[in-house]
Amino acid sequence: MTPIDILIMAAGKGTRMKSRLPKVLQRLAGRPLLHHVLDQAAHLQARSAIVITGHGATEVEAACAGAARADSSFDLKFVRQEPQLGTGHAVQQTVPHLRDDGTAVVLSGDVPLTHADTLRALVAASGGERLALLTVTLPDPTGYGRIVRNAHGAVQGIVEHKDATEAQRAITEVYSGIMAVPARLLTPWLARLTNNNAQGEYYLTDVVAMAVADGVPVVAHRITDALQVAGVNSPLQLAELERAHQLRQARALMEQGVRLADPARFDLRDDTRTGVRGELVCDQDVEIDVNCVFTGRVELGDGVSIGANCCIANARIAAGAVIHPYTHIDGEKAGATVGEGALIGPFARLRPGAELGREVHIGNFVEVKNSTLADGAKANHLAYLGDATVGERVNYGAGSITANYDGANKHRTVIEADVHVGSNCVLVAPVTIGAGGTVGGGSTITKSTAPGALSVARGKQVSIANWNRPAKQAKP
Ligand code: UD1
Ligand code: CA
Repeated sequence: MTPIDILIMAAGKGTRMKSRLPKVLQRLAGRPLLHHVLDQAAHLQARSAIVITGHGATEVEAACAGAARADSSFDLKFVRQEPQLGTGHAVQQTVPHLRDDGTAVVLSGDVPLTHADTLRALVAASGGERLALLTVTLPDPTGYGRIVRNAHGAVQGIVEHKDATEAQRAITEVYSGIMAVPARLLTPWLARLTNNNAQGEYYLTDVVAMAVADGVPVVAHRITDALQVAGVNSPLQLAELERAHQLRQARALMEQGVRLADPARFDLRDDTRTGVRGELVCDQDVEIDVNCVFTGRVELGDGVSIGANCCIANARIAAGAVIHPYTHIDGEKAGATVGEGALIGPFARLRPGAELGREVHIGNFVEVKNSTLADGAKANHLAYLGDATVGERVNYGAGSITANYDGANKHRTVIEADVHVGSNCVLVAPVTIGAGGTVGGGSTITKSTAPGALSVARGKQVSIANWNRPAKQAKP
């Protein structure tokens, strides 16, 4: 097998995005476009990838250095193209790094959805001796380079839209911007490019006519799926590709048996805070209602049901758990776990370090952070548990909170097994409520309590019999 060296054009400005961020760093499924392209290099088991940068070069280089270290083995280099004088000029910048024994695969940093299989087929079509072009037939080819063939159907060249005659503009087979070609053939062609054309640019596409002139076979690998070669030029196109990508992910999950209520209303993204890949691992009979967003790595056990409009990031949800609608679970780095058969939400919020045991119930407007709840513990309404260790079968009343932060440090609250905390209590940490104890509603607990004790810490009730409420004075 000929070694593969990937050349990624990423110097363009992306004017139509109207963004401060370089175009190739715009995100699709939470991952910069360029990382999607680098993934393709990884799938092809490329020997090297050379990224051609220009606009926002420092930012682009910094962003992909991190990504490549994390997930691939190929050698990653950058070359700068300043100023940007066209795609041919872009590829010329890589020549000092090109090795003659390799096949160069030219990709664009703004074309994220090409299948690895398509690229493999293109490399095979090049076969270490041919120029292979990836082409696609478009109902509206406006703006693209047209594939010009002779009477026998052999490719003769590529004509850019702006340079094409009326007859050539009628051709619907276009160049995708992706080619595979032996480097030893490409290098001398690049040296011969001129900018004698409508745009005054050095066109990479001019190498096709040179190949024909040199008697090098040119093959077109034609695909029908236009999405695979679609580029991102505007926010609208970015959103369209995002939907297409999400639909692909949704279908793949459904093929594994996951029941999505609507594959068009499903999102799985990388975690942009940590770079953790979007990955949804589902056991059997998982059901996911509409409009759920999954971020980072999420595991759903057997029979888990996720209600509509939930956001779930970096979490493990065990078998049989039910997550009711509008629940927000975000494990960030520490992770969040929900035990078997637990009932969460609606409108619940689980934050990093929430570890819930079996059959735990977390109801509406309950927030849990960095806390462990043992099997069967319940907090059903309007409550906060932060930095707490909660024992089995504890019942934590509506409106109760752990006061875990003294303004400088966080402290732990320990609520032992079978405790009943009434409504509207404040547990001022550090504090321990002994096993089986009861805390009366409205108590502010600042001292630890003994097992089995009833603790009440609130103003005593005063009742004045037959009290006359002030009445409005009649106006004189
Ligand atoms: C190019 C092809 C056209 C093809 C189309 C597919 C040429 C001359 N034309 O046209 O046949 O149908 O792609 O989308 O190649 N770039 C640089 N440096 C430059 C110019 C461009 O790095 O000096 C990068 C851009 O950032 C982009 C890619 O190259 O990622 C393609 O450039 P673009 O201007 O979009 O090429 P097109 O004119 O669309
Ligand atoms: Ca383009």
